Amino acid sequence: MVTAVALRLAAQRRAVDEVLAPLRLSRDDLVKVQALMREEMERGLGKETNASASVRMLPTYVNHTPDGTEKGDFLALDLGGTNFRVLVVGWERSPQHCPTLGHAHHAHYPQLFDHIIDCIIDFQTKQNLVTQMLPLGFTFSFPCQQVGLDKALLLTWTKGFSASGCVGQDVVQLLRDAAKRKRVGNHLGMQVVALVNDTVGTMMACGYDDPKCEIGLIVGTGTNACYMEEMKNVGTVEGDQGRMCINMEWGAFGDNGCLDHIFTHFDTVVDETTINPGKQRFEKLISGMYLGEIVRQILLVMTEKELLFQGKPSPKLQTKDIFKTKVGVSEHQVRSQIRTIMNELELDASFEDCVLMREVCQTVSLRAAQLCAAGLAAVVEKMRENRGLDQLSVTVGVDGTLYKLHPCFSTNLQTTLKDLAPNCNVTFMLSEDGSGKGAALVAAVQCRKGCSPLQMW
Ligand code: BG6
Ligand code: GLC
Repeated sequence: MVTAVALRLAAQRRAVDEVLAPLRLSRDDLVKVQALMREEMERGLGKETNASASVRMLPTYVNHTPDGTEKGDFLALDLGGTNFRVLVVGWERSPQHCPTLGHAHHAHYPQLFDHIIDCIIDFQTKQNLVTQMLPLGFTFSFPCQQVGLDKALLLTWTKGFSASGCVGQDVVQLLRDAAKRKRVGNHLGMQVVALVNDTVGTMMACGYDDPKCEIGLIVGTGTNACYMEEMKNVGTVEGDQGRMCINMEWGAFGDNGCLDHIFTHFDTVVDETTINPGKQRFEKLISGMYLGEIVRQILLVMTEKELLFQGKPSPKLQTKDIFKTKVGVSEHQVRSQIRTIMNELELDASFEDCVLMREVCQTVSLRAAQLCAAGLAAVVEKMRENRGLDQLSVTVGVDGTLYKLHPCFSTNLQTTLKDLAPNCNVTFMLSEDGSGKGAALVAAVQCRKGCSPLQMW
C-alpha cells in the first residue's frame, strides 16, 4: 500500500517536472539572453541596423538627470499603466493626485484626448488652478519616435491599449489640439512642454533624490527600461557630446525570433490570444498583464494530465484573465489563503492542488524575474564598458505593481543580477510618487531653457 502511494507520488512528481521543465531556465540560458539583449541594443543604436532591431533604443532628448535646482509648480499627466492620473507637482509641496480616472483603452483618438483634457480641467478646477498657465509634463507609457522633447510620434499601442487613429501621429499635438477644442471661460490652459516614457519619468523622479540613478525600470502591466547612453554610441541622433537617455522598449525584445528557443507552448498560446500576437514577446514573459494567463495555461495542461483538480476542470478555468495579480502573487501565501482564492474562483482545490498551484506561480514568476535580470545585466554591463570602469556603481529607479507587490520578484531579480553582472554594484530605488514627478522635472529643465510661445495650448 505504502509502496503504491510512493510510486504514484513519484510518477506525479515526474509528470509535474516534465510540464514545468521548459519554464526553468539554467544560468547558461540567462547568460545567452543577456548576450542577445546586448546584441539587440547595439543593433537598435546603429543608424543602419535600427530599423530591423527588436529593441528600438528610442532617443528621448533627455540629456541630463536632475541636479536638484529644478523649481516651480507643474502639471503632470501620467497615462499608460494600471492607472491614469493628473497631478500637480511642486518642489516645495508634495504631489497631489487626482483620483484615478479610469481607462480609455478602446476609444477613437479624439475621444481619448478629449477625455484626458476633461480630466485635467476637472482637476485644475478642483485645485483652484484654472487661472494659472502651468507647464505640463506628460508621461505617456507607449513607444514613441521622439524628434524632440515635445514631439513624439506613436509607433504602436502596447499593453492592450488600442485607441484608433493615433499610430503615426504626434501625441503632444493630439493633446494640444484637444486642449484647443475644450478651451472654455477663464480657463487659461496649459503648456505641454515635454513628453516622456514612464521609464524616463521614473529615472528622473528617483534621480532627484539620488544622483547615481541613471536607469529607469518598470515591471507592472508592461515592462521596459531606459538608461543614460553615450551620445557617440547613438547612431540615430546627430552629435557626439555628452549622454542621452535611451528608452529601450525592451518589451519587444525577441519579436524578430531571437528568443524563440525559450518560448514555451504556454507562452505561444498566451501570445496568440492577445490583441498583438507576435509582438512584445519579452514583455509577455515578464509583466503583470500576462503572468496570470501563463499560470492558467499551465493549470489547464496539468488538469488535462490529471495532475490537478482530479482531472476535472472547472468551466471557470477556461475563462481568459480569471487569474489576476492576486493569484499570480499567491506563491508566498499560506495554503489556506490560496484555497480561499481558488474557492472564490469556483475552483474546487484540494490541499495538494494548492501546493502545486503555488509551485506553478513560483516557477512563472521566478522565470520573469530572471529574464528581467538578464536584460538589466546587459544594460549595466554596457554602461560599465562605456565608461571604461572595472566596477560600476549605479542606481535603478523602479516602479510598477508587479515589482512593488510581488513578494519575491525584487529579491529574485536582484540575486540573479548580482550573479550575471558581478562587476556592477546596483542599488534599486522605488519610485514613491510615480513617474509624473519625473515628467514635471523634465518640463522644469525645458522651461528654464525657455519655452516658445508656440508651445502654449
Ligand atoms: C506608476 C507610474 O507608478 O507605475 C506610471 O506613475 C507607470 O507612469 C506605472 O506606468 C507602471 O506600473 P503599472 O503596474 O501601473 O503598469
Ligand atoms: C510597454 C510600453 C512601454 C512602457 C512599458 C511599461 O512596454 O511599450 O513604453 O514603458 O510598457 O509601462
